[in-house]
Amino acid sequence: MEIPLKVQFLKEADNTDVAIVVGVFADNEMTAAAQFLNDTTHGLLKTAIETNRFKGKIGDSVSIIAPNDLKVRRIILAGFGKKEDLSHKVLQDIGGHIYASLAATPDKEAVLHLSDLSEGSLGKGDIAALIASGALMRSWRFDKYMTKQKADELPQLETFSVITEDPETATQAFMPLKAVAEGVFLCREVATEPCNVIYPETYADKIKEELKPLNVDIEILGEKDMKKLGMGCLLGVGQGSSKESKLVVMQWKGGASDQQPIAFVGKGVTFDTGGISLKPGLNMHEMKYDMCGSAVVVGLMKTLALRKAKVNVVAVVGLVENMPDGNAIRPGDVLTSLSGQTVEVLNTDAEGRLVLCDALWYTQDRFKPQFMVNLATLTGAILVALGDLHAGLFSNNDELSKRLEDAADKSGDPIWRLPMTTDYDKMLKSPVADMQNISNGRLAGSITAAQFLERFVNKVPWAHLDIAGMSWIDSRQLPTAPKGATGFGVRLLNRLVKDHYEA
Ligand code: BES
Ligand code: MN
Ligand code: ZN
Repeated sequence: MEIPLKVQFLKEADNTDVAIVVGVFADNEMTAAAQFLNDTTHGLLKTAIETNRFKGKIGDSVSIIAPNDLKVRRIILAGFGKKEDLSHKVLQDIGGHIYASLAATPDKEAVLHLSDLSEGSLGKGDIAALIASGALMRSWRFDKYMTKQKADELPQLETFSVITEDPETATQAFMPLKAVAEGVFLCREVATEPCNVIYPETYADKIKEELKPLNVDIEILGEKDMKKLGMGCLLGVGQGSSKESKLVVMQWKGGASDQQPIAFVGKGVTFDTGGISLKPGLNMHEMKYDMCGSAVVVGLMKTLALRKAKVNVVAVVGLVENMPDGNAIRPGDVLTSLSGQTVEVLNTDAEGRLVLCDALWYTQDRFKPQFMVNLATLTGAILVALGDLHAGLFSNNDELSKRLEDAADKSGDPIWRLPMTTDYDKMLKSPVADMQNISNGRLAGSITAAQFLERFVNKVPWAHLDIAGMSWIDSRQLPTAPKGATGFGVRLLNRLVKDHYEA
């Protein structure tokens, strides 16, 4: 997929026939660039602010049709919030809001004037790069199946230029941020593709097509391979589908050859009907997003490879389709996992943990990683607990949790840790097998799911992110994402890797 927006950093630009964007801080304190423009227009910006309930808050914007003698098409004032609150996340949000304002116009070219803006540890170049990357993230669209859209219903913006005193530094700072955006785009793309297009086999091919050229090693295991290994739980889930289940192993070797890898594991249920424990029909189509854990892992690998991260990373995704069928697993069936532990399947709709348990065991057994982080749209219960504002974090390791929480704060992908204890673990006791795949009641559903996974990590430092509430959001647009697939998790994990695991 092509990059939807051309971004460039310049010292000065010809402003003829473009949309000019300038920032205004909270309480209408103008940035130097806004002040300059206000002066040259004899107070036009000040008037616009006063007549438009504009307060300079993040997300506030005013679009002014430029007076004829100015030669520009329009001037957009963008709220920059409180100066002291500027951070990576806030700057990206500002960029996203600016893109949204521009996308509502027919303008093709926009120029953001920042002049010498810097704040605390954020230099001129960083600020320019972060705002531009936020705009880029927001500009993604998925309209390949729309055959009847008219140009005047679509955003027209093609070029976003940022005028800064330090374009070289900004261009440098933008490179890794662009790599993150491209990882986010790949994540959103595979998540949004319908399930008649993306199913385990085509998904595995897509991973190979995207990552192989970037020097990521790819192995694709089919059902025969997995059967030989003994992945009875993963295979059990896919057994009702006419599509062959796949396990994709990706390796990025950017670190020293003797460096222990770090590992990411993703749930890739390409469609989750619930199986024989069939889901109700209402909104079942949303279960096309049940592969988002894997999509984050794939997007992350793209980002790390694009920016040539100096670290060894393995990524494993379990790709299956959960369908009801004469051959499907039944409630009450007992499956034997790769670890040798047996599982009584009381509900075939609790399938994600069955996929992950074999993927996790395989990953630690084969690669002996420093840690494993898995991502999954695992439970509806996490939405009840945290809504669509935080992903759930579960872990057996305080240091890894702390690092993830830190990366979440900095990256703008928020997470919240929930408890794990032996008393929750006991809720998985089965009368016929080593464990049940669900507890008997409805209580603490997200925690018991995490407790289940923990039984398959073999005490390796591990964290599980339940992203069911964060992977797609239809109720509102996020500053840096349109409605639909968000790409939540790519920024977060890239930040974790960058801050702690690169040589
Ligand atoms: N994929 C679902 C979880 C889910 C639900 C994700 C809603 C996003 C939105 C998962 O496989 C599932 O069905 N979980 C069950 C578990 C239950 C049977 C214990 C659930 O959450 O209802
Ligand atoms: Mn399910
Ligand atoms: Zn599921």
